[in-house]
Amino acid sequence: MALSALVEQAIERTLLDEQTIQRRVVELAAQISSDYADVDNVVLVGVLKGSFIFLADLARHLDVPHSVDFIALSSYNRGTVSYGAVRLIMDTRSSITDQHVLIVEDIVDTGYTLDYLMRNFEARRPASLRTCTLLSKPDRREVDVHVDYLGFEIPDVWVVGYGLDYANRFRTLPYIAALRRDVYEKE
Ligand code: PRP
Repeated sequence: MALSALVEQAIERTLLDEQTIQRRVVELAAQISSDYADVDNVVLVGVLKGSFIFLADLARHLDVPHSVDFIALSSYNRGTVSYGAVRLIMDTRSSITDQHVLIVEDIVDTGYTLDYLMRNFEARRPASLRTCTLLSKPDRREVDVHVDYLGFEIPDVWVVGYGLDYANRFRTLPYIAALRRDVYEKE
């Protein structure tokens, strides 16, 4: 089946179109470039997999020297005994000690992932540590996390596109769309 046909079937509405996202990415990059103007190098740490598209766009608009690294985490789902626990499955390639680190996320939902990451990274004594996330679902928050650079607040609906997936699909759509409820509630 063609991807366009799958999209047609599964998507309810566009939440953020391509132009809106790109405009906001440029604004965020300008703010970050200005805040880090006196810094030799910013280490952007993307949280896989969801952040890869946002990070790629954001980084290409930055006017401050930067390097790129990645981390992969796995979280336990609702209904499991370890709900809320997060596990590191792939660490950064380079040490972040004494570095100016900016964590780049696609979305903050319950907050468990970012909370874990902040604690884990703080223990390694970076020169500074901030967070940038494209989306936030405030209605879903279970732990308080501080976001320094936020793209958009969105309602509690399942979103796909621009890095975000449903069952590993739809990550490469250039816009962010709400999935039809019957698609994810049938499980
Ligand atoms: C998503 C997202 C964040 C996390 C946020 O990752 O990219 O890392 O969930 O959720 P939380 O605030 O409730 O912790 P996901 O586990 O879906 O993996 P993926 O990025 O590989 O799709």
